[in-house]
Amino acid sequence: MLRTASQFKIASRLFSSAAVRMTSSPVMPLDASKVEIQTTKTPSKPKSNDELVFGKTFTDHMLTVEWTQESGWGTPQIKPYGNLSLDPSSAVFHYGFELFEGLKAYRTPGDKVALFRADKNMERLNKSAARICLPTVDGEEVIKLMGKLIEQDKYLVPEGQGYALYLRPTMIGTTPALGVTAPDKALLFVIASPVGPYYKTGFKAVKLEATDYATRAWPGGCGDKKLGANYAPCVLPQRQAAERGYQQNLWLFGPEKHITEVGTMNAFFVFQDSKTGKKELVTAPLDGTILEGVTRDSILSLARERLDPNEWTISERYFSITEVAEKAACGELVEAFGAGTAAVVSPIKEIGWEGKDINVPLQPGKQSGALTENVAKWIANIQYGKEMHGNWSRPVA
Ligand code: COI
Repeated sequence: MLRTASQFKIASRLFSSAAVRMTSSPVMPLDASKVEIQTTKTPSKPKSNDELVFGKTFTDHMLTVEWTQESGWGTPQIKPYGNLSLDPSSAVFHYGFELFEGLKAYRTPGDKVALFRADKNMERLNKSAARICLPTVDGEEVIKLMGKLIEQDKYLVPEGQGYALYLRPTMIGTTPALGVTAPDKALLFVIASPVGPYYKTGFKAVKLEATDYATRAWPGGCGDKKLGANYAPCVLPQRQAAERGYQQNLWLFGPEKHITEVGTMNAFFVFQDSKTGKKELVTAPLDGTILEGVTRDSILSLARERLDPNEWTISERYFSITEVAEKAACGELVEAFGAGTAAVVSPIKEIGWEGKDINVPLQPGKQSGALTENVAKWIANIQYGKEMHGNWSRPVA
């Protein structure tokens, strides 16, 4: 009910601006069926798997779709891979209006290429977009467009365990103006990179430096969103850790030194109660500081489905480096790994903390713990179409 004159004034202004919008041209939703395709005249030769360095080689085509506040989404274009032309005043260059996603397409039996849980990436893309005032998308339409993009360069999707096509949907604010405000122009683009293992060392356990001298994310911030702005500031601490002989940071938070993430991945630890023998798979809870990893979610779901609840507890809870150090000291630390789309799982062998190295057990003669190895197999079987799991694997080309 409208109680005061000023409430009435505000309401009538809102109604009249809605009426103006209704009479102006319609704001278009993203529509994959409108795609225009321009193919390259110089198709590239596929590289051998040995030559693939993560994210250095790209397929011949890319997808672009422009958006304006006035007209909505424009015509999707699939065109030869190439430079973007942007006004130097574009919002992305000045205030970080940028988000990205990472997902993979895999060669599966029957000469099909399938995306792994692309719907989850689209959900997250929209959460990131909403957080930095960029437009949201109909995820299904973007998935269809990615299917058409993959179709163009299907012969460049590598084959073999550990190899895939990494897709990088990205959205940027392109409004050419220096005012700090929500962009009224944006560009969504998708590039694709044939990839092998993320780390040059392959499936090899890494040494981490527990990091409390820099903070990746904080309560009320946007560490749970996939924004480029979360990544650049983490490179300096990573270089500093590398100078001391550690490959990645184990990000701690707060006076309790909670373990949050590892490098660009979610962190998983396995503990075993020496009295009861019961094991616990633990990862940090999604409290707004933790990226909602698709691999994280897949591991939790599969662990809940496949591990015997009499032997295992699956926990999303706070845990600290102090707890890890104490458990390691009394033989209750079983294994640890990072989980993300790029590396899938990345085993951990040592954690530098307070001038000492905490040893994380590996299986004798192997580069990971037993659960890490199993989880890697469970996920790979679904990704490469050897096993069905609901709609996780979705053929698109
Ligand atoms: C992932 O683990 O999938 C990542 O986010 C890494 C990516 C930034 C290369």
